[in-house]
Amino acid sequence: MSQHIQSVRGMNDILPGEAEFWDVFEETVRSWLKSYGYRPIRLPIVEPTPLFKRAIGEVTDIVEKEMYSFVDSLNGEPLTLRPEGTAGCVRALIQHKLAAQQPQRLYYQGQMFRHERPQKGRYRQFNQVGVESFGFSGPDIDAEQILMGARLWADLGLDGIKLQLNTLGQPEERANHRAELIAYFEKYADVLDEDARRRLYTNPLRILDSKNPALQELIVMAPLLTNHLGSDSMAHFEGVQQVLRDAGQPFEINRRLVRGLDYYNLTVFEWVTDRLGAQGTVCAGGRYDGLVEQLGGKSTPACGFAMGVERLVALIRESGGEPALEGIDVYLVHQGEAASRLAPRVAEGLRDQGINVLFHCGDGGFKSQMKKADASGAAFAVIIGDDEANAGQVMLKPLRANGEVQNEQRRVGVDSIADEIMNSFLDWEEA
Ligand code: HAM
Repeated sequence: MSQHIQSVRGMNDILPGEAEFWDVFEETVRSWLKSYGYRPIRLPIVEPTPLFKRAIGEVTDIVEKEMYSFVDSLNGEPLTLRPEGTAGCVRALIQHKLAAQQPQRLYYQGQMFRHERPQKGRYRQFNQVGVESFGFSGPDIDAEQILMGARLWADLGLDGIKLQLNTLGQPEERANHRAELIAYFEKYADVLDEDARRRLYTNPLRILDSKNPALQELIVMAPLLTNHLGSDSMAHFEGVQQVLRDAGQPFEINRRLVRGLDYYNLTVFEWVTDRLGAQGTVCAGGRYDGLVEQLGGKSTPACGFAMGVERLVALIRESGGEPALEGIDVYLVHQGEAASRLAPRVAEGLRDQGINVLFHCGDGGFKSQMKKADASGAAFAVIIGDDEANAGQVMLKPLRANGEVQNEQRRVGVDSIADEIMNSFLDWEEA
């Protein structure tokens, strides 16, 4: 017997049962984004490899180790499955001159790909909802984006997601810090792991982002950027904090928060929960004022964040959330020739009235169909036999009302089924 083909490691199917939670999540997210005036943009999953190298930085985990890159066999072009959405969004912004006339608030969602070691909450294909703004330079938008997160957690019924905040200053300020970092880590060259040694002179800030437990003590003692920040950077950071304080949004300043991508300046933040184990960051982002220009566009201030959908859905499930999805209202049972001709029309007629119908497809007597109707969770069975069909009627049988199993059934005319059902729903609501 040949072996079943399995999904690629770290790339998961989202099965019914879980996928409903995703639907609810996505619906909530869409109306939340609208309430802040963000507009959708849909971007390709594959982009030219140099885009990510230039945007994320050559000396980062993502670019050095985690990208799914390949060469287009037809034209030799180096391509990569997007590991994140910001680079593609900025590419599209430049390509279509979106920010030429007015500032933009954009969002996207979809699969991202990183060749990481899979574990709970960390996958090789994962989903992000990303939010990006272009053309706003003040701390007000940074703060608004942070407060957006807080509102979404509330909308999703999640609590205990904590905010960490830091500033990465400006590139010139980081250059001074960099020299200090190199001098510091040089003293411990023999303790550094291979990655850290390689990055020491190319991108020492990345050492601060290392997850190697053996380096943590060294990282905690490393010199901080704070001493190199100028007054403008300080004022921007203070501006963000002021809005958060005014809004009553608690936060923790984490001077070690550096993010894993090179494009950030000034504000960076992460939303973290301790309920998901090691992969507790559910949402992260910050300001990236240099990126548009760096990718060939006109200098444009920018700020954004992305959330990990798998992690948030896991958190919703862990918090006991139930997807309040519309269920099935009617299971349509039919047997006999005349009945089976009438039944599809009845089903479509009910759907015209906004009633959700599961139509019995295939064979089966009344008894076995009724079992399926019971198991479907529908509130009603609409039962059509040839007798009913010839009389232009159906049998309407409530299956459950307010959790109680119901039994009384009644014959109703084809034209009044929808009204009968709606009225019953109203009665049940009042009861
Ligand atoms: P990031 O921190 O790399 O930032 O990813 C954002 C979020 O995506 C993480 O906080 C996490 O929830 C989720 N995530 C990342 N990697 C994985 C994975 N392997 N498995 C599951 N979830 C994951 C960015 O991607 C930036 N583009 C965010 C941004 C937008 N900054 C400015 N604008």
